[in-house]
Amino acid sequence: MVAPSILSADFANLEKEIKAVAAAGADWIHVDVMDGRFVPNITIGIPVVKSLKKVSPIPLDVHLMIEEPEKYVAEFIKAGSDYLTIHVEATKDPAAVLKQIRELGAKPGITLRPRTSLDEVLPLLPLCDLVLVMTVEPGFGGQSFMDDQIQKISRLRSEIQNKKLNCLIEVDGGINEETAKRCHEADVFVAGSYVFGRDYSSAIASLKKP
Ligand code: DX5
Ligand code: ZN
Repeated sequence: MVAPSILSADFANLEKEIKAVAAAGADWIHVDVMDGRFVPNITIGIPVVKSLKKVSPIPLDVHLMIEEPEKYVAEFIKAGSDYLTIHVEATKDPAAVLKQIRELGAKPGITLRPRTSLDEVLPLLPLCDLVLVMTVEPGFGGQSFMDDQIQKISRLRSEIQNKKLNCLIEVDGGINEETAKRCHEADVFVAGSYVFGRDYSSAIASLKKP
């Protein structure tokens, strides 16, 4: 599956952009929420998610790069997040937040910074519908893909198979036609600058090629 990140879309025309990528074959819309504390950048928040939900024909995959996500997950779900992913580094009790997300009716996801060990998230997988592997330092679109993170995808694939878990593997950061091939064990590709920087249909189709 492909989830274009609207961080690289035209923010003055988000409805048009979302409908265009959906028509071009996107499966989900990836929404990057940054608070200027967890990452050195600020993007969008709850009111924008609420507006996007009204016009999006496909699910919203919301990636929270915020400190203390427990304070905001209820509002993000009320606003229409379908998948809601938190960073393991951002809260004292990630298990509790993941349970809270599921109880409130959204699909919980866990993610980690490139320098965080996968061991931090493995015990949380049974609480998740999604695990997101970051292949850039979170904070900005348009960065280069970090090859050394690919091993996390392979380890996750074995863990999910061995424990028979129902957890999708998503990869985010520096994804293009070429780097996506190196992540062939992932289920969902997030791509911002790659999709929004060229013809949407051919970009999305190139990521779906086996
Ligand atoms: C980075 C975000 C990504 C970003 C990806 O913090 O999580 O979703 O938008 O952008 P590209 O695909 O340009 O690396
Ligand atoms: Zn993201």
